[in-house]
Amino acid sequence: MTSIDWSSLEAAALAARGRAYAPYSRYHVGAALLDDAGRVHAGCNVENASYGLTICAERGAVMKMVSEGGRRVVAVVVVTGGDEAGSPCGACRQVLAELAGDAPVRMLAVDPAGQETQRVDSSVDALLPRAFRGSLVTGA
Ligand code: THU
Repeated sequence: MTSIDWSSLEAAALAARGRAYAPYSRYHVGAALLDDAGRVHAGCNVENASYGLTICAERGAVMKMVSEGGRRVVAVVVVTGGDEAGSPCGACRQVLAELAGDAPVRMLAVDPAGQETQRVDSSVDALLPRAFRGSLVTGA
């Protein structure tokens, strides 16, 4: 069982948030995942002039994890700005449900100095109850 170093996940998500490409919404999001090999994978939102092509921070991090050989998400941190912690969108919840099972999800809001303003601890299962899963398709 991989132990969860929350402070390094938080630092990775915060650093990734600083690299967000969000010229349209100006809502900067960073995410960091711990995988089952103990590695950390971070992502930020990457927007596009064709707005629907935007990729959220969480899904960016999942794509990075899988392409680097990670197969399971053990823990997730999402960092946004302002007073209220952001929450993964529906698409990201579905993607996390596939590879994260019931992993814990920490949502943090930070002020411009990077100081925490709100923390919400949840889990993938709590965020997406009765998720649609591949086992329903494959029967496995
Ligand atoms: N966004 C994320 O990166 N993650 C979420 O879970 C919610 C939304 C991004 C997408 C877009 O770039 C901006 O936040 C505003 O929707």
